[in-house]
Amino acid sequence: MTGIQELLLSRIRDVADYPEPGVMFKDITPLLADPAAFTALTDALAEIVVSTAATKIVGLEARGFILGAPVAVRAGVGFIPVRKAGKLPGATLSQAYDLEYGSAEIEVHAEDLAAGDRVLIVDDVLATGGTAEASIRLIRRAGADVAGLAVLMELGFLGGRARLEPALSGAPLESLLTV
Ligand code: PRP
Repeated sequence: MTGIQELLLSRIRDVADYPEPGVMFKDITPLLADPAAFTALTDALAEIVVSTAATKIVGLEARGFILGAPVAVRAGVGFIPVRKAGKLPGATLSQAYDLEYGSAEIEVHAEDLAAGDRVLIVDDVLATGGTAEASIRLIRRAGADVAGLAVLMELGFLGGRARLEPALSGAPLESLLTV
């Protein structure tokens, strides 16, 4: 493990039985509160913008906003929020996806993405991959290309990477940490 990975991992707090019994929640608020760690994370993600030649960042609500916005500023590219349904005021594209129990829906402003855009998706955690898969669909439906998916942490035991492989169709999935 690199020094940066050790720093990042040391600032992520495990919270047992949250939000429900049996779940180990990964709390990134200690990392956000530490300027050295947050800067190291922002720099590492900004390098992925360069390596994927991305021209825009899509951040996934809500923690993908916190991580993606400073990366967009650092890398000099635009930031586009993908929000949970009903939060964006303009004309939107929507994408529904299945959860373990029930379903969810995410949206993007249609005018924010277009053909020729190369989009790096940024989020804190990759779990089952459902949210990321829906966001990939949304970006492609808007006519843009997916340059890659970058996450702080991948929960390897949930199989998100394998699920996303067909959807990414060769675009890289970069996780700074795998647990
Ligand atoms: C979490 C996390 C990812 C998503 C990963 O967000 O921040 O966006 O779940 O799960 P998946 O890979 O199984 O789709 P959450 O829905 O808790 O939203 P929040 O950031 O607004 O709390």
